[in-house]
Amino acid sequence: MSATSTPLTPELTEYLRSSFSTEDDVLRRLNAEAAEAGIPAIHIASEQTACLQLLLRSISARTVVEVGSLAGYSTIVIARALPPDGTVIACEKDPRHAAFIRRKAAEAGLASVIEVVEGAALDTLPTHPILNTPIDDTSIDAVFIDADKPNYQNYYDLLVPHVRVGGFVIGDNALAWGQVHMADPENEPKNVRALRAFNDRMATDPRFLTTLIPLGDGMVVGLKVSA
Ligand code: DHB
Ligand code: MG
Repeated sequence: MSATSTPLTPELTEYLRSSFSTEDDVLRRLNAEAAEAGIPAIHIASEQTACLQLLLRSISARTVVEVGSLAGYSTIVIARALPPDGTVIACEKDPRHAAFIRRKAAEAGLASVIEVVEGAALDTLPTHPILNTPIDDTSIDAVFIDADKPNYQNYYDLLVPHVRVGGFVIGDNALAWGQVHMADPENEPKNVRALRAFNDRMATDPRFLTTLIPLGDGMVVGLKVSA
């Protein structure tokens, strides 16, 4: 008999939520207003918030690139884990969502920390200054990928060379809504297939020490251990 993981029941999830979340009134109000604005409620779960912040604080992150910011829930969570002169480069494709994030960032007193980059990240990032400094001066401390699933590997290819050794790459939805292990090449949704491929890519990339933290819909987390 090997040691086992304890399955997360709804009751245990509720316990995690009540004891280990940093969600506050600002974030609850953001969710309520996002819902009123018709923005889908597919932000990270509140039980992921402290985990994300712990990871970022553990490496004294200053510069984080977020791909897929939606209404800015995770953007604010990330910004709050950075020093006052830190930056979240928040890539958001939808102009309405981008405007919503800018407003929420200002209301949260984080306008100077959150830089909203509007447009598809694969179009906007290649000309962004963060990817146009010499690789030796690479300044990205962490990347949080939470956008369209089939492009996760493209974001990874673009950003990983610019992540410092000792930095993190984190991908949301690593459990693929509970379907990540159900490989079905014929019928499976393309997003499930893409998320499994992304997990495999990170798990086998020798530059990273990688694990999957099963909070929310799961976060695959890789620490860059070599260039
Ligand atoms: C979806 C996307 C997400 O990033 C998420 O966390 C949950 C759901 C979606 O596309 O349905
Ligand atoms: Mg997600």
